[in-house]
Parts: sequence; C-alpha cells; structure tokens
Amino acid sequence: MLLDNHGRTINYLRLAVTDRCNLRCHYCMPEHGLQWLSRADLLSYEEMLRLCRVLIGLGINKVRITGGEPFVRKDLMKFLTELSRIEGLQQINLTTNGVVTAPLVPELKKIGIRSVNLSLDTLDRERFFQITRRDELPNVLETMEALLRHDIAVKINAVVMDGQNTDDLIPLAKMAQNLPVDVRFIEEMPFNGGDHVNVMPLWDHLRILDTLRAEWPDLEKIPDPPFSTSMNYRVPGHTGTIGIIAAWSRTFCGSCNRIRVTPQGVLKTCLYDHGVLHLRDLMREGLSDPELADHLIFAFNHRHKNGWEAEEARKGIPVEESMATIGG
Ligand code: 5AD
Ligand code: SF4
Repeated sequence: MLLDNHGRTINYLRLAVTDRCNLRCHYCMPEHGLQWLSRADLLSYEEMLRLCRVLIGLGINKVRITGGEPFVRKDLMKFLTELSRIEGLQQINLTTNGVVTAPLVPELKKIGIRSVNLSLDTLDRERFFQITRRDELPNVLETMEALLRHDIAVKINAVVMDGQNTDDLIPLAKMAQNLPVDVRFIEEMPFNGGDHVNVMPLWDHLRILDTLRAEWPDLEKIPDPPFSTSMNYRVPGHTGTIGIIAAWSRTFCGSCNRIRVTPQGVLKTCLYDHGVLHLRDLMREGLSDPELADHLIFAFNHRHKNGWEAEEARKGIPVEESMATIGG
C-alpha cells in the first residue's frame, strides 16, 4: 500500500489527457485566449501508459481519465483499451462533458468502464448555452441516456454558480428521483483561467445543503464511501442520491487518496499545489522506471497536509489556472 507523509493512502490517479475542450464553461476557461498546448508539450499515450505502469506498480489501482474534454483527443479509445490491459489496475473511470460521447458508449462498456462522471450544470437549454457558450445540451442528455442504457454508473457534476444556475439545483437534484444517478453539486473554485479572483464562493456547501433541505426536509445523510470527496444524501423514495462537494472549502483533505497528472505531464499531489514534479521532462531525459519511481515516492513523502497549505506554498502565484489544464 502506498502511503504519504501524513499516513494517507494514495491509490487514485487522475490523468488529464488533453487541455482542449469543445465547450467553454465560464468557470473553467475564458472564451478566447486560452493558449492550447502543442502536441510536443503533451504527454504521448506511450508516456502516459508508462507512467501508469510505474504508478500501478507503486500502489495506484484506480485511474480517472479527464481533461479538458478527454474525447477530443485523437485515438482515446485505443489508449483506454491499452490502459485497461495493465495488470493491477482495478478501475478506470472517466469524466466527460458528454458532447461527443454518446456513440462511444457501447465501446466504453466493452472496455470495462463502469462509471462515468458527466458535467452538467443545468437542464435548461438556454442556460446551458450561457454557461458553456455552446448549444450542446441535447447531446449531453443523449450521452446520459446511453450510459444508463448500458448500465454504466453515472455521476452528474454540477458546479453551483451564484446568479447562473442556482435555480437549477432542485431540477437537477430531481433527476435522482427516478434515475439511478448521483447528482453532485460542486462549490465553484477559482480554476478558471484567470477570469475571477479567489474568494469564497457565495454558494458554499452549507448553503447548497440548506437549499436542498428547504425542498426536502426529510433529506437523509447516507454513509460516504471511503475517500469520498462528496457528502452524500438521499431523499427517501428516490432512486439515486445527491452529493455535495466542498471543493473550495476543502473539507475532505484528511483522507485525500488522489494525485493528478496534467496534460503536460506535471504531477500534482494536491489540486491546489502548483505542480511538484515534471514527469514528462524526467521521462524525456531518459530516466529508468526505478528512477522515476524514486522521484514519485519522494513527492508522495512531501505532500502538503491539505489544500490550504498547498495554496499557501504557491507563494503568491494565484490559483487561477484553468481546470482544463489540471484535470478536473
Ligand atoms: N470549480 C469547480 N468545479 C469545476 N470544474 C471545472 N471547473 C471548475 C471550477 N472552477 C468541474 C466540472 C467538471 C469537472 C471536470 O471539473 O464540473 O465536472
Ligand atoms: Fe470543458 Fe469541462 Fe472546462 Fe467545461 S469545465 S470547458 S466541459 S473542460
């Protein structure tokens, strides 16, 4: 078992395969001016597979593929197939915006994907356009239906934004009434490519919970799975569940089991750190697998205690990189 310097298990890698995206969500990136990474800056699939093998050898057993939007990177399905063949990897999950995913769902099922996180902040087509700057809601809903039809677990991720989609909280939560989905509300974080400053979101986890309780006074707390970042609830009689992720308030750092690798191959041992190891450069300098493993273990032994400490250690570098460049 892989442990960090605070005694926390590390078994979960979030791997961002691209910084590119076919949406332009306000909370993630500015409409213009995001500088896409060049092909040579990105980790190649071969490099990602090598890295995964080394990490799985050390104790990682779950990998989430994220981005940007993972499905805009060419040959993703081939990569997923090869990833799924690595011995010791128990679970591959995906985070997608669902815009182009629906036709690929049968293949995802074949590869053995059991759970997908779908980003969806509103069920209103006009509001969807305002938030994502693209008119793609029908495609996203089609992806959701395809996933459910193929018996792939669906978690809906909704970022809660003051004045934008707070009227959507209840309609989104109601999806769990008849559908086997986990609807998770996420506090807005400042990772938006520099559009807003880092202040506490007006809609924090407590306010989100209050809003849900006002609609469903009998909302009940259910046990959170191990390492869960969400606080989980159920409305009696509803098929699915509701979760709240205190992504800004950082209530879950004490059991954080996750590390991140950005599209350009930077290791982050906390979402809020500024990157702790340039894995791409180390690989391209010709390090062997055991040498790479030594660097990784060193980084795991120097993890920040929590997101507040990690933010502090940035020494004034603002927390404003786009979520698309760090892997949501
Ligand atoms: N704050 C909170 N969550 C965010 N995401 C993207 N940007 C932000 C942000 N600024 C979430 C999206 C998506 C996941 C990849 O990250 O909901 O589901
Ligand atoms: Fe794309 Fe996700 Fe960022 Fe929206 S939040 S722009 S879907 S990467």
